Amino acid sequence: MCGIIGYIGKKDAFPILISGLKRMEYRGYDSYGFCVLKDKETPFLYKKTGKISEAEETLLDFKVEGSLGIGHSRWATHGGVTDANAHPHFDCHKNIFVVHNGIIENYKELKEKLIEEGHTFVSQTDTEVLPHLIEKYFEGNLEEAVRKALKDVRGTYGILVTSNADPDKIVAARFSSPLILGLGKDEFLVASDPAALITHTRQIIHLEDNELAILKPNKFFILKEKAPTFITWDSEEAEKKGYAHFMLKEIMESPETIQNATRGRLIIEDGSVKLGGLDSVSEQLKQIKRLVLVACGTANYAARIGKYMIEEYAGIPVEVDVASEFRYRSPILDKTTAAVFVSQSGETADTLAAMREMKKKGLLTIGITNVVGSSQARETDAGVYTRSGPEIAVASTKAFLGQLSTLAMLTVYLGRQRGMDVTEGKKIVSELLRLPGLAEKTLERAPEIEKIAEKYQNFKNFWFMGRKYHFPIALEGALKLKEISYIHAEGSAGGELKHGPLALIDENIPVVALCPDSPIYDKMISNLEEVVARKGKLIIIATEGDKQIKELTEDVIYIPKTLDLLTPILSTIPLYLFAYYIAVLLGRDVDKPRNLAKSVTVE
Ligand code: F6R
Repeated sequence: MCGIIGYIGKKDAFPILISGLKRMEYRGYDSYGFCVLKDKETPFLYKKTGKISEAEETLLDFKVEGSLGIGHSRWATHGGVTDANAHPHFDCHKNIFVVHNGIIENYKELKEKLIEEGHTFVSQTDTEVLPHLIEKYFEGNLEEAVRKALKDVRGTYGILVTSNADPDKIVAARFSSPLILGLGKDEFLVASDPAALITHTRQIIHLEDNELAILKPNKFFILKEKAPTFITWDSEEAEKKGYAHFMLKEIMESPETIQNATRGRLIIEDGSVKLGGLDSVSEQLKQIKRLVLVACGTANYAARIGKYMIEEYAGIPVEVDVASEFRYRSPILDKTTAAVFVSQSGETADTLAAMREMKKKGLLTIGITNVVGSSQARETDAGVYTRSGPEIAVASTKAFLGQLSTLAMLTVYLGRQRGMDVTEGKKIVSELLRLPGLAEKTLERAPEIEKIAEKYQNFKNFWFMGRKYHFPIALEGALKLKEISYIHAEGSAGGELKHGPLALIDENIPVVALCPDSPIYDKMISNLEEVVARKGKLIIIATEGDKQIKELTEDVIYIPKTLDLLTPILSTIPLYLFAYYIAVLLGRDVDKPRNLAKSVTVE
């Protein structure tokens, strides 16, 4: 992995490949490469470690001609970050070129066999077995050779293949790794991410698992005819709009994110919500006795808050797990359980794998997804889009707020199917309507938060803590700080401090504490006193008007008062800004933190 782009048409392919890869840069990568074909000339092949944006001028100076090409940005999984390991990979005669996202799990045995058969390998990647296998099966027709080669392969792939031996075509195939065809006027594109297509066309087709597409200059062919869908995202939404980083822009979009998630879905008079994506399963949901919420990373923390919301207000027992654990343990499940999968991208391999297992077991599967038409959105029985728009920064921020808003609506939806009365429903629904305005007010604290970040930027360790709805927020705050600033940070439940972590606390480890007004406010204050008694430094997120909290520290960030279950949607915002400002002060690559990819399409 990480980004794939292909072009065939009438224009010069090279600049289109470059800009396509640049549009996917947000996903993170460590090297890149291109192959452009022109008539029967020797293909132009270029592979390099580093960032495309830094080398763009040099690349354009190459003046590459040819209206067919494939490109790739690589995030290393098998084999180090080297020019040779960058894609495209090729066969023994440099005649068949392949770019690949995913992992070929049985590559070692395939490679050994191919070497025995006389093939020569020049990289350490799993991908390189693909061009050699295709070479082995090639008898003049590229798609036939690709089809045969893929039969030998175990693992996941989104691939593009091209060759001068069967010219004027790109063959695309996928299994568990996204590939999207863009249908332009006299041209076709294919990419692993719609972001690379939207400046060219909005007519797209999602390739399905085990499908193979053959793109020619003026026609394309797939095994199954499918109706095009329409991308509603704007290319402008994927621009920085004057912000220094996408992450800052996305945090600043918090109010719209909440508004977009809830727009047209809140029915005040009735204290209920309308989630059209659940209409087809609403009767089934009434019978459900238990839910499992499954997700990874930030989305998993959203799910943990969803558990607290649903248990408290809808009265349904909820279990939450990280997808990579869930699928390999032995959860006790029956048909009275529904499984809910939370994912921004809808392409996270672990979450998809868990979802597919649950489908096999016959469970009702629900998706809470941002990306329209993603694998998760298409494969779950029903679902709700979070409508957060494109999230470009690798670290998830606004998508988390979209997930929390959606989980709050799901809570009302399920609650109103059960014991929740109209008054209670109305209370939550009308507060959800007020929430974008409250998020706006929270964002006004940015300059204060920046100052606090300046004060604490040089600490090497941070502790985050909160209770109940704010326990997962503490974990999310710590995750965000570590992933973009590379500072060590951990999070815990406030009540857990005295069961171990308190041993760490002294003046060298600042504690970021979530202590908004809530039924367990006093309990949290006791935990904060434990920190102060050990000379720990406190940064506290508290509710406007709480003067008492100032006795504990001068570093208080105030958020507006809202309902207990909705407070996390506001309290997260200062934590995001805090992590952002620290990372900027430390000179980190905020939008593309090292070692991370935006959507993790490998297990
Ligand atoms: C952290 C982050 C990741 C993702 C996780 C799941 O900032 O972005 O932890 O939340 O990889 O991704 P999705 O939501 O696309 O399934």
